[in-house]
Amino acid sequence: MDLTAFRALEPLCWRAPSAHNTQPWRLDYRADAIRVGWDPADTLPAADPTGRDLRLSLGAFVETCLVVSADVGLPVEFVADHYPGERRVGWLRPARHGYHSPFTTEQVLLRRTHRGRFSAGLPAEAIVAVDAVARAAGGTARTLPPAGGLRRLLATADRHQYADPAVVGELRSWLRLSRGHSRYRADGLTDRCLGLSRGEAAGLRAALAAYPVLRRAGLPRLLASAAGDPLALGGDVIVLIGPAEADDATQVELGRALMRIWLTLHAAGLAAHPLSQLIDAPATRAALGTLLDVAPHRLLHVARVGRPAGPAVRSARRLDR
Ligand SMILES: Cc1cc2nc3c(=O)[nH]c(=O)nc-3n(C[C@H](O)[C@H](O)[C@H](O)COP(=O)(O)O)c2cc1C
Repeated sequence: MDLTAFRALEPLCWRAPSAHNTQPWRLDYRADAIRVGWDPADTLPAADPTGRDLRLSLGAFVETCLVVSADVGLPVEFVADHYPGERRVGWLRPARHGYHSPFTTEQVLLRRTHRGRFSAGLPAEAIVAVDAVARAAGGTARTLPPAGGLRRLLATADRHQYADPAVVGELRSWLRLSRGHSRYRADGLTDRCLGLSRGEAAGLRAALAAYPVLRRAGLPRLLASAAGDPLALGGDVIVLIGPAEADDATQVELGRALMRIWLTLHAAGLAAHPLSQLIDAPATRAALGTLLDVAPHRLLHVARVGRPAGPAVRSARRLDR
């Protein structure tokens, strides 16, 4: 494989999605292969203590690398070689045959997380297509209506998230709430991606600055209710469920499937808005497991999905074109 050719594609691969847009992946070019690893500085030890979202994001990145290289006819394969001690998930290697994917680099570049209003949920054929992608990776995808029970769970999950100073501190460090922020065009979650007006962004900035003082005076509850009710913005909810026994390498594989699911949705004019807090909080994860009749540890990802009513803002990347 021509490693120089892959290097030129790397900025395209960085369009992969990651939790809080931390872009944790790192490529290390060796003589005959490229090591896929991660930088602990770009992980979320408070919000993602088990590393589930890290592994899903790394899988999404691997899949993106394969789609982008296939699109230019560069034959590359991924060899899983998960070794957390060396912060490695595997290798991109030259392959005899190119990767087969129905997706293109253009779709990689145009896919976006959509946190706004959806005019419709998933058509039946999209539900079948998404589940087929999940099943091919050993998982399943189930849909839920965004009804009352789920809404209450989301409100509980939001309160749980804002009650934890470590999670709030970490979130604050990845928020880019003013255009003057030095990393506004590099990484993290911008006010525009989150759909906040300038006033709302300023309010959130002030509230987060006051958090250490006002935490015990009810600020977490206020922040949770200010987050609003995304389920009122339309769409359905899909849950990605892993196999009964999923080790870390399997979660990376399911991250690859998650990317294929998002590209499948994008190709059908649909989009996803992840709601990871639902499975981050132990109580809501357990309740969601009961709702789906699935062991809670198998729940890997939850997102509101549907047909966007309008465009979404492009998120930042450190390596961009
Ligand atoms: C594993 C994973 C978990 C995520 N969880 C959330 C979430 O809970 N809430 C949210 O708004 N976005 C979530 N996201 C979306 C990221 O914030 C988003 O991918 C990132 O900001 C880049 O934006 P883009 O997807 O538009 O390229 C998640 C993404 C991944 C890959």
